[in-house]
Amino acid sequence: MPNPRRGIQPLYWQRGALHVLDQCALPARENWLRIDNAAGVADAIRSMMIRGAPAIGIAAAYGVVLSGRMHADKPVSAQQQAIAADMRLLAAARPTAVNLFWALARMRRVLEKQSPQLVEVLLQEAQAIHQQDLEQNRRMAELGSSLILSGSAVLTHCNTGSLATGGYGTALGVIRSAFRAGHLRGIFATETRPWLQGARLTVWELSRNDIPVTLITDSAAAAVMRREHINWVIVGADRIAANGDVANKIGTYALALAARHHGACFMVVAPFNTVDMQLASGADLPIEYRSGEELWKTAGFEQPPAGVEILNPVFDVTPAALVDVLVTERGVIPKPELRKMMEACANTR
Ligand code: MRU
Repeated sequence: MPNPRRGIQPLYWQRGALHVLDQCALPARENWLRIDNAAGVADAIRSMMIRGAPAIGIAAAYGVVLSGRMHADKPVSAQQQAIAADMRLLAAARPTAVNLFWALARMRRVLEKQSPQLVEVLLQEAQAIHQQDLEQNRRMAELGSSLILSGSAVLTHCNTGSLATGGYGTALGVIRSAFRAGHLRGIFATETRPWLQGARLTVWELSRNDIPVTLITDSAAAAVMRREHINWVIVGADRIAANGDVANKIGTYALALAARHHGACFMVVAPFNTVDMQLASGADLPIEYRSGEELWKTAGFEQPPAGVEILNPVFDVTPAALVDVLVTERGVIPKPELRKMMEACANTR
């Protein structure tokens, strides 16, 4: 189980409750919230106190444990109904990151075994999901960083670090490891509008780890790729379709296009539970649209002028053809496409 006193982490379980670092308050304040019910976990995910695909899945798993605890004294059928209702609440919190649904499906399989020690077995499963994510990140960091030659400059988007995962990070884990290996001449992080995951979270994390980083606006990315001779654009993913199309934070698609033009390699780093083999391509991938308020308030104003509509899609889909390499804990997949994804899917070792 993760140690509450260890480095940066988005959440930990202690004495029957989930403790969540409020990412809406970072970097100004490090507020920890104690959550003891599934509805509270769903709220924390919806409001983005906890965010990042793997972290959302882990939080939802602990949400099911909290539901099990809350309804432990009910007769079996009432208990099952109440937990099922809580799981629906958790599933409705955010639509794009498939890790949420993957984690809930894993918890459901445990529930179906109807163990007399329900709460304990649910907790064991949630802790296993949490621990496995950390191990997968370490493995992906090893695999991804081994592709990065000495003297490289990298650019990353959104926050894919310890805060977005069970610890260490996906894309940021690769960057952390490449930095420690002494291979990086520069790390550039985009602000990531409108929610500013890059400006508020990524640079805070890297600075905490004494890793130098240069923050840029999203719209500076192409110019920086050219000027700084960026070698790698490295991002995470929220859902990957069977053909290798990648849903990730809004702006990722534009970065992939710019990377192709400037000869930078485009690397996606994600645990295999981010792959949704039910989805043939990115065409039908559920994209979350959040309130226009998020966009407008970032600009520092309460209300837009009359007649202005705001469209705020918070994810986009990058076609597989723009992905040079997909790194998962199962291995490195160059130029992902259906056949390679199916092979990786069959490889459960
Ligand atoms: O809206 P967010 O902050 O949850 O979006 C996060 C991202 O898009 C990340 O890039 C993705 O979840 C991968 S994180 C390891």
